[in-house]
Amino acid sequence: MKGLILSGGKGTRLRPLTYTGAKQLVPVANKPVLFYAIESLVAAGITEIGIVVGDTKDQIIAAVGDGAKFGASVCYIQQDAPRGLAHGVKIARHFIGNDRFVLFLGDNFLREGIGRFVDRFRSGEANAQILLYHVPDPQNFGVAELDGDRVVRLVEKPKTPPSDLALVGIYFFDQTVFQAVEAIRPSFRGELEITDAIQWLVDAGLRVDAEILTTPWIDTGKMEDMLEANRLVLETLEGGVEGEVDETSRLVGKVIVAPGARIVNSHLRGPVIVGENTEIVNSFIGPFSAIDHDCRIANSEIEHSIVLEHAVIENFPTRIEDSLIGRFAEVRHAQAKPVATRLLLGDHSRVGVP
Ligand code: TTP
Repeated sequence: MKGLILSGGKGTRLRPLTYTGAKQLVPVANKPVLFYAIESLVAAGITEIGIVVGDTKDQIIAAVGDGAKFGASVCYIQQDAPRGLAHGVKIARHFIGNDRFVLFLGDNFLREGIGRFVDRFRSGEANAQILLYHVPDPQNFGVAELDGDRVVRLVEKPKTPPSDLALVGIYFFDQTVFQAVEAIRPSFRGELEITDAIQWLVDAGLRVDAEILTTPWIDTGKMEDMLEANRLVLETLEGGVEGEVDETSRLVGKVIVAPGARIVNSHLRGPVIVGENTEIVNSFIGPFSAIDHDCRIANSEIEHSIVLEHAVIENFPTRIEDSLIGRFAEVRHAQAKPVATRLLLGDHSRVGVP
């Protein structure tokens, strides 16, 4: 079996980060969310992987390379514009050849491995297999109606949902999906929808099975979901200090301090991860925070947040919480008079002051 990861898209919900970067490279516990998808495929024995890329192609290639560091062989498939998930499948036909494959959305995060789903699909009779997850707000998802474990209907963002089972961004297909993606037409938003392709399979009398996930799944398309994925991963990490921690600092719970990081007169309450060459001085870092490499946090407090590489937070007067701070961002207490808030924010930035 092969793996196909979709890593193009617009990423509008994660602006402004996605103006300059691929959303699939936003780190969860200091590792790009896309890497979890690749690792998940490799752990299930799928090492031939194609990645569909769009405008952020160069960044994705720079981060993933030929896949050797994951024990995989990765090739790239260029999508000219974000024309939908089913379009991503359509343009990958050559790469997939005659194999069955797993389609994995590059911003989807799953805590459980996919091994048992791969085994079931590999040895079974189904033409497609989808994964479902019980959600409290099915009206915001693609939702499945089942007869036993067979899918009978899929509806996109239904006003009156037939169930609370949302479609997870990990799908299993055989060759019949290529007939489906050729047959369907773009939806009202101009995209070839994967739900339409799967519905086409059902309508054609082909067999689409469903599995229900019992462990967390997160579509990290929005900031809140990124923070949630970050929380889930940090929860499972073991602590370990390789960097420098001075004797006036206090580390409580699971804390990772990467090589080259320096903690000075600070209080870190885990789970927390601090990346390489990051400096934390006279500060408090609270639970569920991931501070990436080459950052500086001084005289400030932060918790339940993700801070990307090279960001600086200095002398900030209030505790920062539930935040996502981009690469090279600077968050400071302004010394200049008159006393005022001075902002230089990218389009679609969000600021919440107490
Ligand atoms: P989505 O999150 O559904 O779409 P998006 O990336 O355009 O984001 P937004 O809704 O915030 O504007 O995409 C799911 C995954 O599939 C994501 O990793 C991007 C990828 N994708 C493609 O590779 N090609 C596409 O045409 C689309 C729509 C998405």
